[in-house]
Amino acid sequence: MVSISIKNSGRQIETVMVRSILIALQVNEVPIKTLCGGKAICGQCLVRILKGQQYLSPVQPRETLALQRLGADPDMRLACQTYPGKDIEIEIINYGSKQITPDLM
Ligand code: FES
Repeated sequence: MVSISIKNSGRQIETVMVRSILIALQVNEVPIKTLCGGKAICGQCLVRILKGQQYLSPVQPRETLALQRLGADPDMRLACQTYPGKDIEIEIINYGSKQITPDLM
């Protein structure tokens, strides 16, 4: 198990390494926006990694393209494309805009 601390909410959730940050947040009912269903298209799930960037899954080409298009800072990742390997702390950029896509649950 790994934990994700969410600065916006003050919450800390537990998850497993095979679950993306987006899914972990949704399962724990932390409000995060998604329009594309986790396909690295909408950019709504953008998060800032405050601690533990070195423990994240590598950025893949599709995420790189999305991050470039969004003009994301170097410490930002798409929650739908990122898997934590150890404890991390994040800030949800679009915090509070909850839209759960059924096929992600
Ligand atoms: S949910 Fe759309 S880019 Fe992550």
